[in-house]
Amino acid sequence: MRFFLLGVLGALAVQAASGPEYTADGAVRFPEDYREWVYLSSGLGMTYGPAATSSGPPQFDSVFVNPAAWAEFKKTGKWPNGTMFILEIRKSVSEGSINRGGHFQGEVVGIEASVKDTTRFPGAGWAYLTFRTGAGKQTKVLSTKASCYGCHSANGAVDYTFVQFYPTAMPIAREKGTFRP
Ligand code: HEC
Repeated sequence: MRFFLLGVLGALAVQAASGPEYTADGAVRFPEDYREWVYLSSGLGMTYGPAATSSGPPQFDSVFVNPAAWAEFKKTGKWPNGTMFILEIRKSVSEGSINRGGHFQGEVVGIEASVKDTTRFPGAGWAYLTFRTGAGKQTKVLSTKASCYGCHSANGAVDYTFVQFYPTAMPIAREKGTFRP
C-alpha cells in the first residue's frame, strides 16, 4: 500500500512538471518530453513565419500542448494559465528506405514555443520563445515587440492560438463558443 501511494504521488509530481518551468531569472526550460504531450496537428510547407522557407523541400511544423492545458481546454474551450505549446519544425524528406513518393519527417530545424500566464505576462497574457536546436536547454521570453505577438493576436481563432488549423481542437472551441471565425 505504501509503495502504491508513493507511486501515485510520483506520477502526480511528473504530471505537474509537464508544462512550463522557469529558471530563477525568468527564462523557460526546454520541455524534453514534449513529444509525449498532446499532438494537435502538422502543417506541411505552411509559409507565414520567420522559419518559413521560400525554396527547397517543404518543412513540417507539428504542434504539441501540455496535457493539463488540453484537459482544461476540452472542458471550457479556453487555454488556462500554465498552457505551453511547442511548434516543432522539421525538414521533410521524400526519398529514404522504401519510400519513393510523398514526404516524411526529417531532422529538427527549429523549436518555437508559447506560454500562457496572465500574472507573469500581463498585457498579452502570452509569452513567445524560440529554442535554438543544439543550443541551451532554456531560453528567454521574446520581447513583446517580436512579430509573434502581432500575428498571433490578430489571426489566431482562440486567444492568440491557431485553433483553426487543429482539427481536434476546433470543434471543441466552436461548441464552447470561444472560436473567433
Ligand atoms: C505571420 C504570422 C505568424 C507569425 C509572425 C508567427 N506565427 Fe506562430 N503560428 C502561426 C500560424 C499560422 C500557426 C499555426 C499553424 C502551424 O504552423 O501549424 C502558428 C503556430 C504557432 C505555435 C503553436 C500554438 C499556436 O499558437 O497555435 C507556436 C508555439 C508559435 N506559432 C510560435 C511562434 C513564435 C515563437 C513566433 C515568433 C518568433 C511566431 N509563432 C510567429 C503564425 C505566425
